[in-house]
Amino acid sequence: MIYKFSLIEKILLSNDIIPHPFADASFSVGLGFALGSAVKLKIADQLTLEYNDLKNIAKAAHVSELGAELILDCLDAMGYVQKKVNQYAFTKRGYKNLSPQSPTNFRYFILFCDNLYKGYLKLDETIRLGKRAESGMLESMSDYDWELFSRAMIDISRTNYKEVCGKIPIAKSYKNILDLGGSHGLYSIELTKRHPHLNARILDLPPVKKYADECIAEHNAQRNVAFLPSDFMKEEIPKNVDVVLAFNIIHGLNPSENESLANKVYHALNEGGIYVILDQIKGIGGSSQMSKATTSYMALNLLHQAGGKTYSKAEIDVLTSKAGFKKTELKKLNAPGFGIVICYK
Ligand SMILES: C[S@@+](CC[C@H](N)C(=O)[O-])C[C@H]1O[C@@H](n2cnc3c(N)ncnc32)[C@H](O)[C@@H]1O
Repeated sequence: MIYKFSLIEKILLSNDIIPHPFADASFSVGLGFALGSAVKLKIADQLTLEYNDLKNIAKAAHVSELGAELILDCLDAMGYVQKKVNQYAFTKRGYKNLSPQSPTNFRYFILFCDNLYKGYLKLDETIRLGKRAESGMLESMSDYDWELFSRAMIDISRTNYKEVCGKIPIAKSYKNILDLGGSHGLYSIELTKRHPHLNARILDLPPVKKYADECIAEHNAQRNVAFLPSDFMKEEIPKNVDVVLAFNIIHGLNPSENESLANKVYHALNEGGIYVILDQIKGIGGSSQMSKATTSYMALNLLHQAGGKTYSKAEIDVLTSKAGFKKTELKKLNAPGFGIVICYK
């Protein structure tokens, strides 16, 4: 992402002398694809913090030297690599996000987006119709798509699970967490680590079990966390729970689906329990462009991919008060556009 501008560039940009569509419609999109190719074609895998010759990078990645150079120059423009004549090395940011050796890399998220954009050729049709033309994304996913999706969710949740779990009010009397569409379960795992008296069930579709089991084992959480294969829209959800998490779930559902989910959750919760929604919340960032970019892009993406949308706090209040929730509370997260809404029964 480009965010450093010279003073002259700032003046020219703010006066529209540099045309903004030049970035928006051309290089922003193209650089995103270059990032996808860098990971997909294992060009990024050949880089370290030490300089390496272009020739060696291209040979090891089995791509042309010209192709490798073009991709690496794009990574240079985005600040992920630095270039010295015909040698390239990761910057610290590049290493953190793109190196397979970095424990906090974002490689699956990049691959997931790269895969997702194949479907953008049909965006105009969605916009004309005001709905997704085909059946939901989840129904048509291959095993590889499930892997990219699930591992991309791990990449994102690793950036905020500690922050998020610190904002959830866990009462001493609470015993059971139900993590709806919990996927990898990292939020449940962290909550049960902080509050060892809690047990959690990650409820998700069967293809996701593999990734949840992997995370549960990696964090030694088998005693407190288990995976429950189920469809929360089609099947009943377990009752007698104190905390229900719906993280990045409501944006995939339309308002009437969300009403019926909130209703199910209300009846599953014990008195005094909480329904915790984490999502991109429309309007949360005021005039912040980055916040608006996140919530608007996600609304577009979710309508196109899943028939969903992003919701404002007021819309969430309507959905949850209809189900019976007494009070809601919004807490902003560090990532612009993201927040949690705690709904109290
Ligand atoms: C966007 S991911 C969010 C994963 C996780 N909660 C997080 O925030 O990182 C949505 C998850 O919900 C699951 N999901 C979607 N619809 C579902 C349904 N009807 N029943 C069970 N799981 C569902 C998907 O399989 C996926 O793992």
